[in-house]
Amino acid sequence: LKDELKQLDRPALASCGIGHTRWATHGKPSENNAHPHTAGRISLIHNGIIENYAELKIMLEKQGCTFQSETDTEIAAQLLNYYMEQGQSLEEALKTAIEEIRGSYAFLILDHKDPERIMVAKNATPIVLGIGEGEMFIASDIPAILNHTRQVVVLEDGDVAEVTAAGYTVYHDNKQTDRDVQTITWDPVTAQKGGFKHFMLKEIHDQSTAARDTFRGRIERDTPGVYLPEITFDDETLQNLDRIVLLACGTAWHACLTAQYYLEEFAGIPVSVDYASEFRYRTPVLNERSLVIAVSQSGETADTLAAVSHAASLGAKTMAVCNVLGSSIPRKVDAVVYTHAGPEISVASTKAFTTQLITLYLFALFLGEKRDVLKEVDPHIEALVSLPAAFKETVLLGERVEELARQYSSARDFLYLGRGICFPIALEGALKLKEISYIHAEGYPAGEMKHGPIALIDEQMPVVVVLQKSDVLFEKTLSNLMEVSSRGGRIIAITDTSGHKELQRVSEHVIEVPFLSASLSPMILTVPLQLLAYYVAVHNGTDVDLPRNLAKSVTVE
Ligand code: M6R
Repeated sequence: LKDELKQLDRPALASCGIGHTRWATHGKPSENNAHPHTAGRISLIHNGIIENYAELKIMLEKQGCTFQSETDTEIAAQLLNYYMEQGQSLEEALKTAIEEIRGSYAFLILDHKDPERIMVAKNATPIVLGIGEGEMFIASDIPAILNHTRQVVVLEDGDVAEVTAAGYTVYHDNKQTDRDVQTITWDPVTAQKGGFKHFMLKEIHDQSTAARDTFRGRIERDTPGVYLPEITFDDETLQNLDRIVLLACGTAWHACLTAQYYLEEFAGIPVSVDYASEFRYRTPVLNERSLVIAVSQSGETADTLAAVSHAASLGAKTMAVCNVLGSSIPRKVDAVVYTHAGPEISVASTKAFTTQLITLYLFALFLGEKRDVLKEVDPHIEALVSLPAAFKETVLLGERVEELARQYSSARDFLYLGRGICFPIALEGALKLKEISYIHAEGYPAGEMKHGPIALIDEQMPVVVVLQKSDVLFEKTLSNLMEVSSRGGRIIAITDTSGHKELQRVSEHVIEVPFLSASLSPMILTVPLQLLAYYVAVHNGTDVDLPRNLAKSVTVE
C-alpha cells in the first residue's frame, strides 16, 4: 500500500483523508470490497454492519444505482449520493439516510466538493475524535491515535460530527452538543488492550458486544423468526436431512457438544459430535442427507479443514461456523455462517466460544422452523436479546473471582463437573485453566464421579461445579456434590440459581450469575470459568495471552 501511495500524483497536497482496515463481514477481503466506497461525490468508510442492506439495495437498484462491491457499506455511499442527487446537502442526506439505515455503524464521509471536511455518524460502533494542534484525528479505537494526541472525545450513539483540521462540532438530534474531552494516560501497549492488562480479559469483557453483533440482523422480533440468508440450502434439503455431524477442535469442540443440545431439542434431528482430528481418519457413514458442520474460530485449523473435506468427499452437505471471513474452511464448504466476534488475539479462546454458541443456537432455531419441529420461536428470541446485558452483569464478578483465584492458585489439580448441557461448559472451564495456568484440570459429567474419579477427592482438591436452575439434573448434581463434600472436596459452585440453601451448605463458595433460559444460561455460566482461569494464571505469573507450547491457530496436523 505504501508503494501505491507513493505513486499517487499529489500525495503531499492532501490534508484530509479516510482509510479503513476492513474486518470483512459482507463480501470477501478483496480490492473491490475494500473501503472507501465511492458513489458520485461521496466517499465513505464504515465500521459495523448494515442489517437492512438487502432491502436498501433493492430500493437503490430500482432507482438505477449500480453497485461495484459485495459490501453492505457501499449501500450507505449510494444512499447518500442518491439523496444528494435529489438536491439535498450532505448534512440533509446524512440525516435522511440514517433514518433509513438499520444496524451498527461508524461512518466517515468525504464530499469531493468539500474535501477539507469529514462528516462522522455513529450508532452502536465506537468512534473517537483526537484533538491535535491544528490537526484532528478520527479513529474507532483510542490506541490508533495515541501516538499523535492524548486528548480524545468519545462520541455517543446518535452523534453526528463535522471535523476539519481546525476543530470539530458534534450534533445530537440535530442540535449542537458538547462532549467531554478526556486526557488518556494509558501507555500504548495497555491502550491496544482497551485499557485491560491482557487481551484475554478484554475479550472476556467484549462478549456482550460480540454477542449482540452476532445475532444483530439475524432475528426479527415483530414477526418472530431467525433469518440466515447465508444458508443457501433449499427448504427441501433442510427438511430431508437425516443427520448432523459437528466437527471441531479444542474450545470449538466444546461449542459443538453444547450445540448438540440445541439441535436435538429445536430441530429434532440426530446429532453427533467428533474431534476433527479423529474424524478425518475414520470411515464415517455419510450421504447426501447428512449435514456436516465444521466449527472454527480461525477457519484455518488443519484438522478441521481436512475433516470437512473428507466429509464432502463422502457426499455429505457441508457448512461452517467461522469467525475469520475468507479463511480456508469457509472456502471449502457449501454454506458459511460467520460469528461476528471481531478479532480474537488471546490464544485462549473466550468470545469466539460464546459467539459460536450463539450462531449454532440461531441455526438450530432456523432449522427447527424449517423442519416444523419448533412450535414457538419467540421465547427463544426474547431470551437471546437479554444476553448482552447478562454478559455485562456477569463480568462484574471479576473481583470476587479474583479473590477465589488467589485462594486456589496453588492447587495441583482441579476437577470441573457438570451434567447435561453444563457438562461441555465444565470441559471448557477445565481447558481454559489448563492452557493458561498449566494446572492439571479435568472435566467430568458429575454423575460419572462414582465410576472412578471420586477416588481423586481429598481436602486438596478444588471441585468447580456448573449447575443450571432449570435443569432437571439440578437435584441429581446436588447429590453428586454431597458425595464430593463428604470426602473433603472443596466445592466452588457456579450457578444461575439464587440463594439456594442446600447448594450453599454443601459448597465452600457459590458464584451466582443471571438466569436467562435453559439454553442460554450455559453461555453466561462460562464467564466465571473464564475469569477463574484468567486470574489463577495472572496470580501464578504465566504468560496469559501467549501460553507456552500453544499457537492461536493450529495450521499443522
Ligand atoms: O481456530 P479454531 O477454532 O479452529 O481453533 C480450535 C482450537 O485450536 C482452539 O479452540 C484452542 O483449543 C484454543 N486455544 C482454546 O482456548
